[in-house]
Amino acid sequence: MTARDTSGEPAEIEDIGSNPDPRSPIGEVIARRLGRRAALRGLLGAGAATGLAERLLSSTAAVAQPAPVPHSSGNPPGAGISTLRFPELRHQSTEGDAVAEGHEIQTVLRWGDPILPDAPAFDPSRQTAEAQARQFGYNCDYLDFFPLPQGGRGSGHGLLVVNHEYASTQLMFPGLGDDRRARGRVDAAQARVEMMAHGLSVVEVKRGEDGRWAAARDGRLNRRITAETPMRVSGPAAGHPRLRTTADPEGVRVLGTLNNCAGGNTPWGTVLTAEENINFYFLGEAAETGDQREAYKRYGITKAGSYTWGRFEPRFNLDREPNEPNRFGWVVEFDPYDPESVPVKRTALGRFKHEGATHALAPDGRVVLYSGDDERFEYVYKFVTARPWNPQDRAANRDLLDEGTLFVARFEADGAVRWLPLVHGQGPLTAANGFTGQGDVLVETRRAADLLGATPMDRPEDVEANPVSGRVYVMLTNNVRRTEAQVSPANPRPRNIHGHVLEIVPPGADAGAPDHAAAEARWGIFIAGGKPGVDPGAQYHRATSDVGWLSCPDNCAFDSRGRIWIATDGADDAAGLSDGLYAADTAGRGRGLTRLFYQAPTGAEVAGPRFTPDDTTLFLSVQHPGEDDGSSFDRPSTRWPDFQPHLPPRPSVIAITRRGGGPVG
Ligand code: FEO
Ligand code: CA
Ligand code: CA
Ligand code: CA
Repeated sequence: MTARDTSGEPAEIEDIGSNPDPRSPIGEVIARRLGRRAALRGLLGAGAATGLAERLLSSTAAVAQPAPVPHSSGNPPGAGISTLRFPELRHQSTEGDAVAEGHEIQTVLRWGDPILPDAPAFDPSRQTAEAQARQFGYNCDYLDFFPLPQGGRGSGHGLLVVNHEYASTQLMFPGLGDDRRARGRVDAAQARVEMMAHGLSVVEVKRGEDGRWAAARDGRLNRRITAETPMRVSGPAAGHPRLRTTADPEGVRVLGTLNNCAGGNTPWGTVLTAEENINFYFLGEAAETGDQREAYKRYGITKAGSYTWGRFEPRFNLDREPNEPNRFGWVVEFDPYDPESVPVKRTALGRFKHEGATHALAPDGRVVLYSGDDERFEYVYKFVTARPWNPQDRAANRDLLDEGTLFVARFEADGAVRWLPLVHGQGPLTAANGFTGQGDVLVETRRAADLLGATPMDRPEDVEANPVSGRVYVMLTNNVRRTEAQVSPANPRPRNIHGHVLEIVPPGADAGAPDHAAAEARWGIFIAGGKPGVDPGAQYHRATSDVGWLSCPDNCAFDSRGRIWIATDGADDAAGLSDGLYAADTAGRGRGLTRLFYQAPTGAEVAGPRFTPDDTTLFLSVQHPGEDDGSSFDRPSTRWPDFQPHLPPRPSVIAITRRGGGPVG
């Protein structure tokens, strides 16, 4: 979901933060008492990863006194320093998109494209739920490429798995007006279209002799998952009394998955899709008067909601089904290679606004899943499986994610990250605080993490390990509500408009054997958004050009050389820039030297960056094109990507390739 405050959400459920007490853990209190600078000097002394603390120190110094604009004229900035060879784009804001010279863009899948054999052609003036359930859904986000044949490393044939995060109602239907009113005006049939536009798509794609990608509408493994697809609940919260409803008195079967933002995959080739802003879908008086009102509030659930589904479908009405919201906010696993497989909500990973879930491996083969809770003042988590995965027997890993330990991060002023276990019976997670078992801890993960003293962050979005270095990168989009009194070493800017990227260094990473399961790691700031020399605290490589800086880092990916590619969300409001995709080295002389590679059409954010195994194709989701103030189906701010007078803008997956072949970038 875009960071804009004009995204069509009623004021009370905008992303204003649901953490009532983003108080400071003790490390932050100490840091404030010592003064940030002194505390950071302590970080230096504690031997943080080379260069990190130093950069953090200089960035924090810049809060008080901006440095001069750090780039030279003459040669293209960064030339000869960065390993990236593409010429940078200029910042611009247009109805179309653009990519760095030497590359080309193909549209692979658009909202409404038929992806099942009996799907009708797209007709946005007469859209039905039946058609939508067989067509590519709305607002593509996380995407992944699973090679075909299964188990291979091929880069020319595979399955694209794509999340459909939410519905931009005002751009989907004629006659509803702009974002301020559209959702409140939908009728029952349109609400059902919205439901079918959610979920995921699995689509077979193939690159032809001519180098062009094509989606197979009759792919044998093609699949739509929607807000009504039956799913199983597993792990410690399965069957929990607070997961039981009229339709599911045992609390083990749920219809659908909602607000699937980012995601990830497992080493055994399954999909992990993350349920994020699940509060938007529920309404009812019980939000203020029901037994669970405090828990609803902690998850941002309000009386009015955002979507109006609760008027038409009892399960989205809190007064009818007070437990239905507890069945969302999970990470869902499914097998993309089996279109009949039943997706599973893995409750052991906790319930919060999961931005994504990406995996890394501990040296002993245990699987570690990193996940951010994307809201202001929320936390960074990781889950460590109890057992190692089995590379020889895919089926043996089927329920691996049901047993393990969930941890939440505390970023200390001395440069340590402490991973605090969310285990019932340990510390404050006892019956005295209302936790009668692990199920309670998982249903109310946020409250459990509050009690442990986790560090409230500036909107943790993607958290992803670099496959080359083992270092972990945390995208922190922004947090304009952080006050001077609430700054902390890991979130050092008050009114953090532009966000920043943290770097976590697990023990052993610099020796080539990162221990992602360890209870402690080191942290530092990789880059901090905003314009160098203008925005206080902006921090990049000194040679970053005046078009290479970014705002609002959101999703990220790594190419096979370990370079980071950062997609932005909300740069338009924060910095007057179109959202885009930026790339940087993470090591060597060009470390932190960001360069603008792709620019989205107006109103859109960029999501889901994903390379094929050989780096020759980069897939991107272009989400909510045309979602500008006052823009509507009838008067959109762009008609990207078709630019046909009868077609509205359409969220789409694009493929970027290099002209003449070779790795992108
Ligand atoms: Fe759906 Fe956190 O962006
Ligand atoms: Ca976002
Ligand atoms: Ca989004
Ligand atoms: Ca996102």
